[in-house]
Amino acid sequence: MPTNAGNLEVVHYPDPVLRKKAKPVAGVTDEIRALAERMVQLMYDEEGIGLAAPQVGVSLRLFVAHVPEGDGRSATAEPPTASAGPEVYINPVIAQPEGALEPFEEGCLSLPDIRGSVMRPPVVTITAMGLDGRTFTRRGAGLLARCWQHELDHLDGVLIIDKLSQMERLKLRKKIRALEG
Ligand code: NI
Repeated sequence: MPTNAGNLEVVHYPDPVLRKKAKPVAGVTDEIRALAERMVQLMYDEEGIGLAAPQVGVSLRLFVAHVPEGDGRSATAEPPTASAGPEVYINPVIAQPEGALEPFEEGCLSLPDIRGSVMRPPVVTITAMGLDGRTFTRRGAGLLARCWQHELDHLDGVLIIDKLSQMERLKLRKKIRALEG
C-alpha cells in the first residue's frame, strides 16, 4: 500500500500493473479509506464513471463508481441504471448475468483516445463490501451494470482492447501502438 494515497495518479496502458490479477483487500483500514477517497477524486477530475485500484497503480480488488442519472438513467429504476452518488466496491463479485449480450461503446481512463464497442450482458448482480465493512448485494442494469463489469475486468488484468472485435482492433491499432510507445 502506498503511504500517501494523495499522490496517486491514473496510470496508462501499457503499465504492467494493469495486467496483474489484483489481490483481495484484507480489511477496511485508514489506508483503504484514503485510497478510495483519492480514487473518487481522480474519477471526478478525469470525468470518468468508474476507476479501479490497479488504474492508480495499486493491485488490490477495489473500485469506485458513480454513474450519474440522466439520459434515461435512473438510480431508482428497478433494477437501477445509475447511482445516486459515488460508491466503493471492495472484493466485488458479479453473478447472475441476464439477457443477450449487448454492444456498447466504452472508453477507459487508462486508454486515452481509445473507444470501442464491447459486448456485455445488460443485467448483473454485484456483491461487494462497502467502506463500512458491510457486504451488500445489488442488481443493476444499463450503464451501471456495464460500469461494474468494466471495473471488475480491471481487477483481473483485462482491458477493453482485449474485448474489441477484430475489425475494431484493426481500426484502433495505430492508437494502441502509439500508447505502447
Ligand atoms: Ni477502464
